Amino acid sequence: MIHRKPIIIIALLSASIFVTAAGIKKGNNFKNLKVLPKDISEAKLDSIMDSYNKALKVGCDFCHVKAIDFTNPNPSLDFAKDGEMKENGRRMIRMMIDINKNYFYFDKTIRPEYLNAVSCNTCHRGNPFPLGE
Ligand code: HEC
Ligand code: HEC
Repeated sequence: MIHRKPIIIIALLSASIFVTAAGIKKGNNFKNLKVLPKDISEAKLDSIMDSYNKALKVGCDFCHVKAIDFTNPNPSLDFAKDGEMKENGRRMIRMMIDINKNYFYFDKTIRPEYLNAVSCNTCHRGNPFPLGE
């Protein structure tokens, strides 16, 4: 059975190279980004999510739903999971990208998703439902 070892080692090596290559290409562990760039850095995503909290004056759980975990009475938020308010958020992010790209795209070195001439806070000012104010 000793002669099998090199094959296993080669298999493990190529598997780890594959995993590393995939990691380098994406640069993060996010699973479900549909609007923000898939290769966004963790720091950038964190600061964007923080800006949503501040603009709407809400916590992360305003948009993000909890994981389903019957072994835990208080499961933590599952950020990749979709819910109604998260979808509302996606609509808003798309709208903000459109506004910035079509009317305020002065600096073409910035990706449209990262423009913030108009930001969530431009309209929200600490209010999650700023309609008609
Ligand atoms: C106003 C709604 C809103 C708030 C508040 C919010 N998020 Fe998000 N978050 C989103 C949306 C929408 C996405 C998906 C973006 C996309 O599809 O590109 C997302 C995606 C994420 C992801 C990526 C998950 C994955 O694997 O795909 C993480 C992590 C995350 N949010 C963390 C947070 C944290 C931490 C907070 C609080 C500091 C927070 N979010 C607050 C709307 C929100
Ligand atoms: C051009 C103005 C404007 C901008 C920019 C804007 N919003 Fe909104 N947003 C609104 C208005 C107006 C409402 C209230 C709609 C209602 O009550 O039906 C709203 C409502 C919401 C809601 C509540 C759910 C809903 O759809 O009613 C969420 C969540 C939200 N916005 C997130 C965001 C996030 C995140 C950003 C930045 C990516 C953002 N908004 C940028 C105007 C804006």
